[in-house]
Amino acid sequence: FQCCSTEDRQEMQALWHEIWSAQFTGRRVQVAVSVFEDLFEREPDAKNLFKRVNVDDLQSPEFKAHCIRVVNGLDTAISLLDDPFVMLHQLEHLGKQHQTREGVKKEHFALMARSYLKVMPQVSSCFNADAWSRCFDGIAHKISSYL
Ligand code: HEM
Repeated sequence: FQCCSTEDRQEMQALWHEIWSAQFTGRRVQVAVSVFEDLFEREPDAKNLFKRVNVDDLQSPEFKAHCIRVVNGLDTAISLLDDPFVMLHQLEHLGKQHQTREGVKKEHFALMARSYLKVMPQVSSCFNADAWSRCFDGIAHKISSYL
């Protein structure tokens, strides 16, 4: 599994680390909440997929816990960019977890990519959209290939 160049990987890992090393503890979850907020503006119907995690209140403990799971999944993937074989298995696992969620579509991953592109520059001082996109799209493409 190879989604992006060594330079891209380093950029993405640096960006990710920059955000999480900031002092705000609630930052991870707020980034993810903002991403979902943006996603639901683009595709309101997607909200129905998250009923189980109390999507009607994006600041609820249930939805925040969901956001933490998603961000941790992404965090794991980003840290595995240097380890293609383990990465492949991790993405396969994530892919199968999404396969079982009725209604999740490939197009949702493309929309979410756009949401990250909107939110990340707001929390990162030197966001490299090209490097980020190449890595993110590679990850998202692999996960959604199981749908
Ligand atoms: C759940 C990661 C994109 C829909 C999850 C979980 C993780 C995760 C780790 C928890 C799995 C579990 O504990 O069973 C990711 C990552 C994504 C991504 C890393 C992008 C790179 C998406 C997209 C959609 C989606 C684009 C559709 C809009 C869902 C749904 C659940 C879920 C419906 C289950 C929610 C529940 O618990 O009821 N995701 N996800 N995910 N994801 Fe994703």
